[in-house]
Amino acid sequence: MPASVVAGNWKMNTTVSEAAALAAGIRDGAAAAGNVELVLCPPFVSLAAVRDAVKGSAVKVGAQNMHFQESGAFTGEVSPGMLKGLCDYVIIGHSERRQMFGETDESVNNKVKAAQAAGLKPILCVGESLEQREQGKASDVISGQIRAGLQGVSDASDLIVAYEPIWAIGTGQAATPEIAAEIMGAAIFETLRGIFSGAADNVPLLYGGSMNASNSGEFAAQDCIHGGLIGGAALQAEQFLAVAAAVAAAKA
Ligand code: 13P
Repeated sequence: MPASVVAGNWKMNTTVSEAAALAAGIRDGAAAAGNVELVLCPPFVSLAAVRDAVKGSAVKVGAQNMHFQESGAFTGEVSPGMLKGLCDYVIIGHSERRQMFGETDESVNNKVKAAQAAGLKPILCVGESLEQREQGKASDVISGQIRAGLQGVSDASDLIVAYEPIWAIGTGQAATPEIAAEIMGAAIFETLRGIFSGAADNVPLLYGGSMNASNSGEFAAQDCIHGGLIGGAALQAEQFLAVAAAVAAAKA
């Protein structure tokens, strides 16, 4: 079974000092949360402060994005090499980046490959829109995003996949565990199996979208869900730790 993982995507929230304080609060409660890998993904400018705050603990750090080139004339961008030493993980292809910042399956694919080449662990995000779901296209959209995002990728050992239905993000309207499991256990898992064969069995699959301390246990009770990618509920240490504890308990 894959490791249990609860990652906090802080999005464009927290100043550097707020980020350090939030990370310290999570660090202090992490051991009590149980057997689950915690990953904190603050804005770029707070990566160093969060890394320092969690130093010596089991809490890990991730970035929310990166460019796939190593250096050059890409104003405002951050390269894989620049992230080395600051974090272990990087979120790639979040739907907010796909929708608002022109991220495509092709750039997502380039970023996954660049992350792995740099020794960073990609958290590949996929998810369908409400319109796509209503048209009955959710499974096809998700398998397509996985296949395109992982084209030419042969190593599944450091990979995490997050299923975040766009209609469930920030809406307070989470998917049901059954809806999530239908996509994750079938479309995602079967597509990963087709690419990686047996190595797919060890890829952690995270649900994301209005996940909180009240519903995370039900999601993690599904065999094919190994944790969560948390937005709003990741911005308070107590709530985030409660999500982690619920996931750890469901997987124990
Ligand atoms: P919310 O938990 O705020 O719905 O956000 C989910 C998300 O987008 C995490 O990446």
